[in-house]
Amino acid sequence: QIPPEVAAVSDYEPLARERMTPAAWAWLQGGAADEITLRENQAAFQRLRLAPRALAELAGGHTRLTLLGQAFEHPIFVAPVAYQQLAHPDGEMATALAASALGAGMVVSTQAGLPLEALARQATAPLWFQLYVQHDRGFTRELVHRVQAAGYRALVVTVDAPVSGPRNREQRAGFTLPPGLSAVNLQGARALPPHTAPLGRPPLFGSPLVDTALTWRDIAWLREQTALPILLKGVLSPADAVRAADEGLAGAIVSNHGGRVLDTVPATIDALPAIARAVNGRLPLLLDGGVRRGTDVFKALALGASAVLVGRPVLHGLATAGATGVAHVLHLLRAELEMAMALTGCRTLADIDEGRLWRGG
Ligand code: FNR
Repeated sequence: QIPPEVAAVSDYEPLARERMTPAAWAWLQGGAADEITLRENQAAFQRLRLAPRALAELAGGHTRLTLLGQAFEHPIFVAPVAYQQLAHPDGEMATALAASALGAGMVVSTQAGLPLEALARQATAPLWFQLYVQHDRGFTRELVHRVQAAGYRALVVTVDAPVSGPRNREQRAGFTLPPGLSAVNLQGARALPPHTAPLGRPPLFGSPLVDTALTWRDIAWLREQTALPILLKGVLSPADAVRAADEGLAGAIVSNHGGRVLDTVPATIDALPAIARAVNGRLPLLLDGGVRRGTDVFKALALGASAVLVGRPVLHGLATAGATGVAHVLHLLRAELEMAMALTGCRTLADIDEGRLWRGG
């Protein structure tokens, strides 16, 4: 079922494209505006160089880690991606089964097309849940209780998209959700009150969307609603990461939403070092955006991340070969990470530090 020509994660991209509609492809691949950040996420990884080491002791090496008190086989997670049935009829179920089989942590999107309980029942490994706090806070509280009751082990609160970015590629392709696909886990949430303005184009400020947008106060409120550890997803500023630590949160995900919200913010791997310095180990950092190779995983760990998440490549595997494709993508990344570790003399993830990056001379 895995096409024989696939040797690397990027080989899944053209195969996925052939299998998706042009509009769904624009939704998956596109970013905000001119897609400068989208491109930069990968380009910044490609600019970094590794420093190999010879003759190191590698016996007994492994890629295991503990995060939020939970054990993982390796530091490669599945990022929350909405509406996965746009890539394959099995959608999030296939991704969850593949992640379980490969020992990968998976973050299920608020906008999954399948019920969160069904996913948790079928997965053989614990999942995390990505939460878009709804303007209907009562509904949000119930949703969090459902998530907890279903056995999810952490809440990943996305904080970088209180308003949508201009996803022009998607707009030009005329993307809309096909009939039958919806954010089933949000059924029953009260809609935002209507807001009208001249020309049918409501300005953001003064709109209910902005007036009910998430603040630090809501994060404190959320902490009172649940015992689940809370991570913030979409942190790019050292000050926000420090505040997350001050507020007693469990972690922060350095992310620019795969370049889909505010264009021309920096690549995540370029933002990471200053955040890691500011946080100084007070809370674990994860990173996503542009991870396409095991060497990218390695570079993120070298610059201070504990783990990474992968978005689009997982969907490329899913579109091409369902659960098998997702499993293969995760396998390839892990295998490449292990090669990079062996060739830089790292027995465990703890050995991966800045000294493994080539700094010239
Ligand atoms: C996303 N992302 C996302 N994030 C989130 O918090 N909730 C969501 O529902 C979604 N949905 C979503 C859909 C699609 C099509 C994409 C491409 C991305 C962002 C995602 O979690 C992650 O931050 C990026 O995808 C990481 O970048 P890469 O790995 O795609 O380069």
